Amino acid sequence: MSPAKPDSAALTTASADPEALRHRPIRSFVVRAGRMTGAQERAWRELWPVLGIENGDGMLDFSRIFGRQAPLVLEIGFGNGESLVALAAAHPAHDHLGLEVHPPGVGHLLLRCDTERLQNVRVICDDAVQVLQRRVPDASLDQVLLYFPDPWPKKRHHKRRIVQPEFIALVARKLKSGGTLRMASDWQPYAEHMLATVGSCDLLRNESATDDYVARPDSRPPTRFECRGQRLGHGVWDLAFRRI
Ligand SMILES: C[S@@+](CC[C@H](N)C(=O)[O-])C[C@H]1O[C@@H](n2cnc3c(N)ncnc32)[C@H](O)[C@@H]1O
Repeated sequence: MSPAKPDSAALTTASADPEALRHRPIRSFVVRAGRMTGAQERAWRELWPVLGIENGDGMLDFSRIFGRQAPLVLEIGFGNGESLVALAAAHPAHDHLGLEVHPPGVGHLLLRCDTERLQNVRVICDDAVQVLQRRVPDASLDQVLLYFPDPWPKKRHHKRRIVQPEFIALVARKLKSGGTLRMASDWQPYAEHMLATVGSCDLLRNESATDDYVARPDSRPPTRFECRGQRLGHGVWDLAFRRI
């Protein structure tokens, strides 16, 4: 199989064609032209063909992809993947799918999966919204994790936040009944936005006894952005919702 390192240009939000610009969806990310280390380049060449799932349109068959039937955890926007690796190592009986648009982050995750000899992780380098819409069957996920998504703090950028009513309805549809959506933010206004948006989805029930935030779950390894937020003196707000 040929390595499928995505062309950054194909993932960027900008386009020279004004007509295409008018119709392109608002995206929650801007793919930075981040530098890939030599090791990450090697990971794309050698490990992507084993752990990567090519971009495409067909529905994914997870039991075929992982070679077994097991609870499936999806992490959206895993960054450099450290928390996904820790989770997968701690739960070998669960399968883990990571979605991230930043190619160096994907390279980093691939390297860590190799070092830890993880068999239960697969990766897609594409927009999570499109992957959920086109490739993930309804009622196929046991957990969805969305940790420290970009807060897009400026008001004119709020429309770029990934947490929107349509996105949450989409996630709810992909969860199995009884499955969970876990989120965290270190930006209080975004945490409040998440609470209000997810709280108004009829298919999801807040797991918080006080109908707001939950304690940090032991299952959540500290992420890179969380550590950065802590250094800046930010708080952290965890949310957990269950699919009815
Ligand atoms: C602020 S970072 C947090 C990364 C990681 N979760 C952490 O806590 O360290 C947000 C990440 O989400 C990714 N991202 C944003 N929108 C995305 C989308 N629609 N699909 C996939 N990844 C996305 C970005 O590339 C970025 O790596």
